Amino acid sequence: MIAISNLTKSFKNFKAVNDLNMDISNGEILGLAGLNGAGKTTTIRATAGIIFPTSGKILVDNFDMVENKTEASKHIGWVPELPNFEPDSRPIPLLKYYAGFYGINSADAEKDIVELMKKFDIYAYKDKKLKFYSQGMKKRFSLVAAMMGNPDNFLFDETLNGLDPQGVREVRDFIIELKKQGKSILLSSHILSELQNVADRIAIMKNGTIIKILTRDDLNHLGTTGIKIHIKNPDDKLDKVLLNFGQLEYDGYYYMIKNSSNVDPSDINNELVKANYKVDYIGVQNETLEEYFLNMVK
Ligand SMILES: Nc1ncnc2c1ncn2[C@@H]1O[C@H](COP(=O)(O)OP(=O)(O)O)[C@@H](O)[C@H]1O
Ligand SMILES: [Mg+2]
Repeated sequence: MIAISNLTKSFKNFKAVNDLNMDISNGEILGLAGLNGAGKTTTIRATAGIIFPTSGKILVDNFDMVENKTEASKHIGWVPELPNFEPDSRPIPLLKYYAGFYGINSADAEKDIVELMKKFDIYAYKDKKLKFYSQGMKKRFSLVAAMMGNPDNFLFDETLNGLDPQGVREVRDFIIELKKQGKSILLSSHILSELQNVADRIAIMKNGTIIKILTRDDLNHLGTTGIKIHIKNPDDKLDKVLLNFGQLEYDGYYYMIKNSSNVDPSDINNELVKANYKVDYIGVQNETLEEYFLNMVK
């Protein structure tokens, strides 16, 4: 369980995170969406205990990340946006060192490490120094690192980006596996479609704060963008007819009637036919999550 209340993080006078509130329950995947610079990474770094909040409270399984950082940190696994490890270290000793933080002895740790490195397809590189790891391999390594101590809460910062399609599927399945085990998961992305398939809720972030939280149900009922129409014989009176039904947009081929949620397309069709227009196409256009998101954050 992660509970963030009134989190603010300033860099000089700039509030990268501004009075943010967010809870993630056990067994929940919360998608954190926002354009570059929205404040996702700053929120995640504060929640991981890497940077101190300017103000606000972060609880991880009820341990306060500021007042009881050592204990709170043990309950959270963090996969950074740009994993960066001591370049000259080798994976297994470094992972054992992390495991030691949880009081796990070297032999027990080794068993988990081997299993996880195999699971994430980096076992073949077990003897290589981390500076020889590609960005994708570092990402896989950081997934293994986050699993040390088997914490109940996870922060994945843009973890699905930059993986190949097979990697995306593997990591997504892994995240769902963690959810089934009852873990709380925060997954950030600036790519909405990545969150759409996996998140229970999506929090949309802009200018350092959350402007909207969408539930699974909201995601399935995003509403309509409008009614899309193509007319074979348009003329200069057509606009006037269509404007009776809502706001009008024209992309050079289709007309789109916006704010048309109470309008029945067949009424528009009847009106057009009555005025001797040849209606080639008329249909309701549903809003995609991407459109919804871009409208929210613009
Ligand atoms: N250490 C820092 N010093 C100054 N500004 C920062 C620092 N870290 C982040 N920022 C600024 O805070 C804003 C939010 O950044 P970030 O949290 O990385 O956003 P996101 O992850 O959503 O792209 C950006 O304007 C960024 O430039
Ligand atoms: Mg970021």
